[in-house]
Amino acid sequence: MTEFPTRLLITSAIPYINGIKHLGNLVGSQLPADLYARFARARGAEVMFICATDEHGTPAELAAAKAGKPVAEYCAEMHDVQADIAKRFGLSFDHFGRSSSQRNYGLTQHFAGRLADAGLIEEVTEKQVYSHADGRFLPDRYIEGTCPNCGYDRARGDQCENCTKQLDPTDLIEPRSAISGSTDLEVRDTKHLYLRQSTLRDTLDEWITSKTDWPILTTSIAKKWLHDGDGLQDRGITRDLDWGVPVKKGSEDWPGMEGKVFYVWFDAPIEYIAATAEWADANGKSDADWRRWWRTDEGADDVRYVQFMGKDNVPFHTLSFPATIIGSGEPWKLVDYIKSFNYLNYDGGQFSTSQGRGVFMDQALEILPADYWRWWLLSRAPESSDSEFTWDAFQTDVNKDLADVLGNFVSRVTKFCRSKFGEVIPTGGEFGPAEEALIAHLQTGLETYQTHMTNMDVRKAASELRALWVAGNEYLQDTAPWSAFKTDPDRAAAIIRLSLNLIRVYAVLSAPFIPTAAASMLKDLGDAPDEWPVTMTEALEMLPAGHAFQVPEVLFAKISDDNREAWAEQFSGTRS
Ligand code: 2FM
Ligand code: ZN
Repeated sequence: MTEFPTRLLITSAIPYINGIKHLGNLVGSQLPADLYARFARARGAEVMFICATDEHGTPAELAAAKAGKPVAEYCAEMHDVQADIAKRFGLSFDHFGRSSSQRNYGLTQHFAGRLADAGLIEEVTEKQVYSHADGRFLPDRYIEGTCPNCGYDRARGDQCENCTKQLDPTDLIEPRSAISGSTDLEVRDTKHLYLRQSTLRDTLDEWITSKTDWPILTTSIAKKWLHDGDGLQDRGITRDLDWGVPVKKGSEDWPGMEGKVFYVWFDAPIEYIAATAEWADANGKSDADWRRWWRTDEGADDVRYVQFMGKDNVPFHTLSFPATIIGSGEPWKLVDYIKSFNYLNYDGGQFSTSQGRGVFMDQALEILPADYWRWWLLSRAPESSDSEFTWDAFQTDVNKDLADVLGNFVSRVTKFCRSKFGEVIPTGGEFGPAEEALIAHLQTGLETYQTHMTNMDVRKAASELRALWVAGNEYLQDTAPWSAFKTDPDRAAAIIRLSLNLIRVYAVLSAPFIPTAAASMLKDLGDAPDEWPVTMTEALEMLPAGHAFQVPEVLFAKISDDNREAWAEQFSGTRS
């Protein structure tokens, strides 16, 4: 296995502020990022795990209008709602920032200034769509029409969600206002700033080509937009809106750009940096403390930077954001690895925020604790292709993996021990060939698991972890301590001593997937240490004979057929 990085900067794509995210959003970025962050910390890396809310742009303005609130107030409230749900899902961000922070204002304006100084910004008088029926300029997302690339008839003016092509509203065939549906649109003149990212094509191409270890999904999307597409066309980075980062050149006013704001996709990725500064502010740290994560001239040269995102976000992270970073001419940290995901579908269709289709994070937690969802979503992560949530699959997997395999092992071992030896690790007996075989098997499994986790192969890691749980059950079945006890209690004691130690090992290895259950397993094992196993031989002797534990409450309850049917029914429609 390759050496694990000592310092890891991990960012998850920052969720839009307008509404609570669904499970498809969760599994596409925040959840796998959390899995990796937890694993990295357990392996002793120094981790900075950053996420935030993406608060600008028209979706926020419109959602606020719908809620009857000023946009700033709406965003502040929704940020707290999202932060609370993230916490309840066990997402272990070091900081959950806000793209509307003063830090992001400052950094976004700083980058714009640097790009302008480098000759990478052009002022363009462009034509923008004005809607008579709505009495306003229509931002890109609020113009819908047919995608010129794939023919999808609900493509938005910024991007086609069907083929991921980045679009300009004027590219759309038969455009209409997404607010009113009106086709009474007029194109008017307005001045905007353009990022001349096309001049960086060769640099970006070389950079992406050098990333030979990146997932195919990431590089194929990046290369597509570099070569066959026009993803690297110069992009407008300002908008005629009230809500957003005011256009400035560093700290100076930008003549002719009064009253305009930066485009949400320009300031959103800069928020990764700004949120790290917000972390420093919130924790009484200095500027040097956050800059050592981001500036290669100020200590970040030994940082490995990994980003997590859904596939629709890849063009912005492989082309536009790197263009901002490189174009600034300053030594900011560029991403080292981009882990991207396909889509999770919901029961024969798509999860949809706008249509309220699927299960949303708050609803999920009303039904079951986070670990059930975390395990299912991660073990079925849409890595090599889209995957699908069905209530059947959810019930089957949770019952089998969590209740029958892991939960059952913990329950059988602890209850048997209590009944025969009391609630302490039993003494007596020695390990024999069965234990040696198990330990050798677990050692190989541990190494495979670590490799998959290090490589962020989420499904493979889950399936190796499951195999480790199964191995313990099989060992218990084969050695049958309940029978051994009758003729040779010492033999039974040795089996149970190993098995109780194995529960600790399971807790530690499983914690990145199911942190709450893992913590309660360790607690019930008499506050057992969460030390990551190096050799299974040593790890399985860590809790000595005489160490007290308590039999846990049911770790994972089974999902009944009645539950499954009721939930399938409850979530068959759309959320209002
Ligand atoms: O697709 C989304 O949910 C965007 N809000 C992701 C932004 S990620 C980055 F640019 F910050
Ligand atoms: Zn399309």
